[in-house]
Amino acid sequence: MLSLAIATALLTALGVSAQSPIYGQCGGQGWSGATTCASGSTCVYSNPYYSQCLPSSNAPTSQPTNPTSTKPTSGSPTSATPTAAPTAAGNPYVGYNTFLIPEYVQEVQAAVANITSSTTAAQAAQVESIPVFFWMDVAAKVPTLGTYLAAASAAGGKQLVQAVIYDLPDRDCAAESSAGEFSLANNGSALYMQYIDNIAAQVEAYPNVRVVFVVEPDGLANLVTNLSVQKCSEAQSAYITLVSYAISKLQQPNVFLYLDAGHSGWLGWPANITPAAQLFAQVLQGAGSGATVRGLATGWSNFFSKLDVSNYNLLRGAEDPAQAPNPNYDEELYINALAPLLTQNNFPAHFIVDQSRSGVSGIRTAEGDWCNVKGAGLGPRPSTNTGNTLIDSIVWVKPPGESDGTSNTSSPRYDTHCGQSDATQPAPEAGTWFQSYFVTLVENANPPLSG
Ligand code: BGC
Repeated sequence: MLSLAIATALLTALGVSAQSPIYGQCGGQGWSGATTCASGSTCVYSNPYYSQCLPSSNAPTSQPTNPTSTKPTSGSPTSATPTAAPTAAGNPYVGYNTFLIPEYVQEVQAAVANITSSTTAAQAAQVESIPVFFWMDVAAKVPTLGTYLAAASAAGGKQLVQAVIYDLPDRDCAAESSAGEFSLANNGSALYMQYIDNIAAQVEAYPNVRVVFVVEPDGLANLVTNLSVQKCSEAQSAYITLVSYAISKLQQPNVFLYLDAGHSGWLGWPANITPAAQLFAQVLQGAGSGATVRGLATGWSNFFSKLDVSNYNLLRGAEDPAQAPNPNYDEELYINALAPLLTQNNFPAHFIVDQSRSGVSGIRTAEGDWCNVKGAGLGPRPSTNTGNTLIDSIVWVKPPGESDGTSNTSSPRYDTHCGQSDATQPAPEAGTWFQSYFVTLVENANPPLSG
């Protein structure tokens, strides 16, 4: 695939005046492409090696000093020459620098500008440099993954990009708030395969960049507990076939897959944990002999349905009363109980755990509550220092500040969980910025952010 830089340089050489597209590169040491941006976007400095066209409505008024963690550790910053392909064995996070998703950095910068308390604003500004996952919740976002991979590659050194694969047909089958763009009734399976093929092409083009994918939040977990919901039972065979397809297509050595495994308060219950392990193994087998994944992602999603989000469970700690009498009431207990069941079924027992909004425990009325829960705080920061060899890394999958779902009862994506008394209201549509909720998360961060 022609990189954006090469394509732009060619156009320039041909005398064609080019502008970088929104989210394209527009500057940085060694950059010879366009330095102006498409209409509606502005060239914003990210680091010495990379400036990017960001939507003008969101562009910061001042330049951040170090808004990304993509500084090269070695090698030429302008070279995109692949280094030796990394092996899929081992913890992918060790020794690698996690790329900051520009889309999220922008959201946080815009949020900080709107915070009146200088202490809170200073705390919130620190969130810019905490890596979160990039959610490919519509197929149109796949090219942006390519842009990010190009940026990580151009930064040089050992770079790791984190993204979520989230576009199954009839998505979010047991809830409403994150219904997706594809439906089984309307060619959704074929469209999903194309979406996966496009993702595979992007990661193949940048073999020197490691990519961690969380695969389909809630998808398989819904098949463990929610087959009584017609939309889930009708989607069952498609979910299984399509997640197997995704695994089979994403077997590049630079790619590390973690299938979503819900969370302790969902699949951690004794009745659910064994069928869950068997289903993960079945899906992996369906990807064909030799296909592998790195493991599972836990810590999010919600019981009885719905979607995606990071949940609010502690990695380890005192029992949240909402979890009683579940013996696996925190993420570590769930992981420790699940690991031997996975091993018995020939599924690799390695995990990442989402803790982006797990700073405060005991805030849910029921363990199944998941929507913009009141009183939540940012949780432990991403780290490979997990205190458990089964856990590769604490991660932030749900970008804190993005809503879980709207509280507007007349929206087609309204889910009753977002109208409950422990859900913050009024709340915007899933995935869109929720400023007051972000401020609360910052104020309640545990460990706290320094002001
Ligand atoms: C939404 C997605 C969004 C993701 C991360 C989900 O609830 O459905 O659109 O990208 O959260 O915020």
